[in-house]
Amino acid sequence: MRTSLRLGGDVWINRLGYGAMRLCGPQFWGEPADREHAIAVLRRAVELGVDFFDTAEAYGPHTNEEIVGAALRPYDHVVIATKGGGVRPSPEEWEALGKPGFIRQGVETSLRRLGLECLDLYQLHRVDPEVPLAETLGALDDLRQAGKIRHIGLSEVDVETIEAARKIVPVVAVQNRYSLVDRHWDDVVDYCQAEGMAFIAWSPTGGGNYRALAEAVARAGGLAGVGSTQVALAWLLRRTSTTVAIPGTTSLQHLAENVAAADVSLTDEQYLQLTRLPQASMSRQP
Ligand SMILES: NC(=O)c1ccc[n+]([C@@H]2O[C@H](COP(=O)([O-])OP(=O)(O)OC[C@H]3O[C@@H](n4cnc5c(N)ncnc54)[C@H](OP(=O)(O)O)[C@@H]3O)[C@@H](O)[C@H]2O)c1
Repeated sequence: MRTSLRLGGDVWINRLGYGAMRLCGPQFWGEPADREHAIAVLRRAVELGVDFFDTAEAYGPHTNEEIVGAALRPYDHVVIATKGGGVRPSPEEWEALGKPGFIRQGVETSLRRLGLECLDLYQLHRVDPEVPLAETLGALDDLRQAGKIRHIGLSEVDVETIEAARKIVPVVAVQNRYSLVDRHWDDVVDYCQAEGMAFIAWSPTGGGNYRALAEAVARAGGLAGVGSTQVALAWLLRRTSTTVAIPGTTSLQHLAENVAAADVSLTDEQYLQLTRLPQASMSRQP
């Protein structure tokens, strides 16, 4: 299976990436419980061939970008995707904030924390319903034209919003929650493939709901010798040629298993059985 993708036409990435959010403390708030271990996980991912890392200003807040920077600078053949456009007054609260001044400040501070001069992919974490989309995206486009952002992405958006956004700025990627056990955004996955845009699946192994995942894989007959998370990731990479998976883990063993999923090939029959699985209802989360 081809696991590479040219993001925005000029940034090559491996479609089996890594999401760094869980390296922060509980609720993705604060410092990593074990900073040295967090750095070791990020560096091991690079050794295993991962070259696409997802983070966000809101994780920590700030500490996640700092740890990614500390572990991976000077980013030799590594692409960092980050997100902004929101605030977290407390661990439980995630609020969109799309005012142009806040967007500009967010990009500048992400650049500083990551130690970069240009962000390869900057994703609007959430659309702020209180601010016209053209104002938020206009600010991002100014930063793109100033060379501080190479490409713009969106997160948790429907097709209608993507189309509205693309009338304002070029959008190369969409990051929505999606996995074998959460197919709510099937239409966005198909839209992204048709339009040659990356679809970056967050919580691609079910967000830690391992039991639901294992039951689903077993119902589809399973795969001898292949773990449920690997089956889920292999299915996702097979789903379209523009899907990108960013599984998150704090475990070196799980990291190795997840990366190895890129080598799992599903037969057509196995793929179809997995695709036809009835969808368990899963609650939405931030
Ligand atoms: N755009 C957005 O709004 C948004 C929202 C949430 C997340 N994200 C991004 O998406 C990334 C991934 O999300 P996620 O962390 O929810 O993804 P996930 O990989 O679906 O879930 C991670 C959970 O699964 C467990 N896990 C991972 N690999 C495993 C394996 N091989 N075997 C057993 N358990 C395994 C992890 O536990 P262990 O640590 O024990 O392995 C962790 O609890 C985040 O890091 C973040 O970058 C984006």
